[in-house]
Amino acid sequence: MRKKIVAGNWKMNKTPSETKAFAEQFKAILPKTKWCDIVVCVPTVDLSAAVRAFKDSRIAVGAENVYFEKSGAYTGEIAANMLLDAGCKYVILGHSERRAMGETNADVNAKVLAALDNGLIPIMCVGESLEQREAGITEEWITMQIKTGLASIGEDKIRKMIIAYEPIWAIGTGKTATPEQAEEVCEHIRAVIRKLYGAKVARAISILYGGSMNEKNAYDLLAQPDIDGGLIGGASLVPEKFVKIIEAANQPTI
Ligand code: 13P
Repeated sequence: MRKKIVAGNWKMNKTPSETKAFAEQFKAILPKTKWCDIVVCVPTVDLSAAVRAFKDSRIAVGAENVYFEKSGAYTGEIAANMLLDAGCKYVILGHSERRAMGETNADVNAKVLAALDNGLIPIMCVGESLEQREAGITEEWITMQIKTGLASIGEDKIRKMIIAYEPIWAIGTGKTATPEQAEEVCEHIRAVIRKLYGAKVARAISILYGGSMNEKNAYDLLAQPDIDGGLIGGASLVPEKFVKIIEAANQPTI
């Protein structure tokens, strides 16, 4: 069965000292989690503080981006092997906030390949805008993002990936997708994966929902059959709120 995954995306929040303080509070109140994996994705400068603080814990550390080239004259960029060596296990790719800064589907695909080649687990984000939803093209848009993002990724590699459905209109707006809306698209994503890679892979891949998930709506969202966890922005910055979402995810799958 698929294990639930709760991943925090800190975006551009918290300094290294604040990371250390968060980790201490968070570890102190985190319950035992048998059915749920926990990931905290932090800004690059916080990675070493996070890796140090979460060493000897069940909490994995992730980055929020990577560059697709191996090395060289790319001022300000970070390569996948650097993230791995720094202690990262996961990396968020194709977040809508980065796509809004100009990241293309081809970039996302190249980054996914670079991450996988270096043993990082990519959390590839897809999602539609409000205009696209209202125009009734959500499924076509998501299909295109999945197909282009996963170009030339074989069956052996897709198994190591996570996909996150993040409707742009629900991010940071407090306007969560209803459990039915989120389930509908996550089910569609699984169907696209099934077509591309077969039923076994589709059953095994974890699909997360992200967009104003909080301690109140997490139970209903995570109860949906095709939602295997959450990618949490704002609520992952507050230990008490993040722990409540983890508790919601830490339920045995029937
Ligand atoms: P919020 O939970 O703040 O809406 O952010 C969601 C998100 O973008 C996670 O990647």
